[in-house]
Amino acid sequence: MAGITSRKMKVRRVISWAVLGMMILLPSTLTTAQSADQNITFARDILPILQENCQDCHRDSGIGPMSLMNYAEVRPWAPLIQYKVVNREMPPWHIDRTIGLQKFKNDRSLSDEEIAMISAWVNAGAPEGNTADMPAPMEFADVTAWSIGEPDVVVNWEYTVPESGPDQWGELYSRELIGKMQNGRYIKAIQTRTVDDASRRVVHHALSYATKDRTQPQNDQFLVEYASGKSAEIYPGNSGVLLEHDSEIRLSYHVHPVGVETNAKIQLGIVFYPEDVVPEYRRWSKMLGYSGTLLDIPGGEVVRNDGYVYFQTNATITAFQPHMHALGAYQCLELIYPSAGGTAKTELISCANWDYNWHTIYNYADDVAPLVPKGTVGHIISYMDNTDNNPGNHDARNWTGDGRRTIDEMAFSWIGWYSMTDEQYLAELERRNALNPGLASSND
Ligand code: HEC
Repeated sequence: MAGITSRKMKVRRVISWAVLGMMILLPSTLTTAQSADQNITFARDILPILQENCQDCHRDSGIGPMSLMNYAEVRPWAPLIQYKVVNREMPPWHIDRTIGLQKFKNDRSLSDEEIAMISAWVNAGAPEGNTADMPAPMEFADVTAWSIGEPDVVVNWEYTVPESGPDQWGELYSRELIGKMQNGRYIKAIQTRTVDDASRRVVHHALSYATKDRTQPQNDQFLVEYASGKSAEIYPGNSGVLLEHDSEIRLSYHVHPVGVETNAKIQLGIVFYPEDVVPEYRRWSKMLGYSGTLLDIPGGEVVRNDGYVYFQTNATITAFQPHMHALGAYQCLELIYPSAGGTAKTELISCANWDYNWHTIYNYADDVAPLVPKGTVGHIISYMDNTDNNPGNHDARNWTGDGRRTIDEMAFSWIGWYSMTDEQYLAELERRNALNPGLASSND
């Protein structure tokens, strides 16, 4: 690989010298783009992009497979970095950019300009430039510290990850909180952390849920995601998640062996609202649109599955998180608005490509978070690819149905929302319309 890279580089060097020669001879308009490429340097242009968008995972104790902190570490990866960013495989953010809402609180994707800059830089031979241009190294929050303040309660899990072998997915349960909350408590802030560096190396991601009945996961309440450093959620002042008094806490993990047997220690910390405070909005996050037993995916076929959920109250949808297994390819959230006698109006809200390695939550920005009147139907459309074209497929000859094992399939979304009274709903609708007069009739 290194050989190929350096040979390609030499060829590119020759080309750029040729271009440089042409610059002298040709009118400047023709060469502007190329000469701009020559000026892109690691020190001034590329390092800031990596600091902002990559290093959180790609550093010594991050979840990425290699560190991308300085020129020496980045240079050998330049061609693969170009490939991954141009194809939008890195940073991991799989929302379909051609459909639906595009404003998210946690968007970690690169802009078209950033991608063009990285690509042009690699094409120009990935020059380092003047080290004096380099920004100061980023300071990363210690992910083994609580960023939500001192939690009121802490839930602990331990799991032994073997020295080697394939990645593992699974569920751990904790009954630690049962009996500790009289009538349940509203969560104000919540965070998952790995307790030490060794744990952090092996935990790819971990999602936590409040569970009342292990056999009914569709009723679980999603709590928080742990992946890289972004593991804490502090709810805006007017909202909270009610943790009911008899909840077990479920941890859904993805771990990878790193060459030494590791005892992974994971903690969930929760800060509650004071006992007598009920926040204005109760937030929910549940598994919606599950039509499990209908899954019927013959070998060699691409199958579509449709699931539905009825909103009994007005609501603001805050988050969309697709969930499928290995055959998952693509999932969409559509809303079917209630209509008074006419044809129901539908709106495609979001679609995302699916990669089982990444369970990404797409948190809508406050001003675009879908506002749904009661009686709206949420429609989850999932595509499962049981052909050899799907890199996640184990064996395209197998019929696959629904089930909880990794080799079975699932198709639903984790949807985050909070309910609204008619007054709250109308007030928010008015506020949105004022922000965006052109779209005033969108929910009529
Ligand atoms: C949320 C964490 C995260 C972020 C942010 C992230 N990466 Fe990654 N990256 C990973 C993980 C984990 C892998 C390995 C698994 C995979 O490919 O999905 C990976 C794989 C890669 C690979 C392929 C390595 C190989 O050997 O195949 C490249 C190249 C890469 N990342 C570059 C980048 C760049 C450049 C950025 C920023 C523009 C970035 N990544 C942002 C976590 C991340």
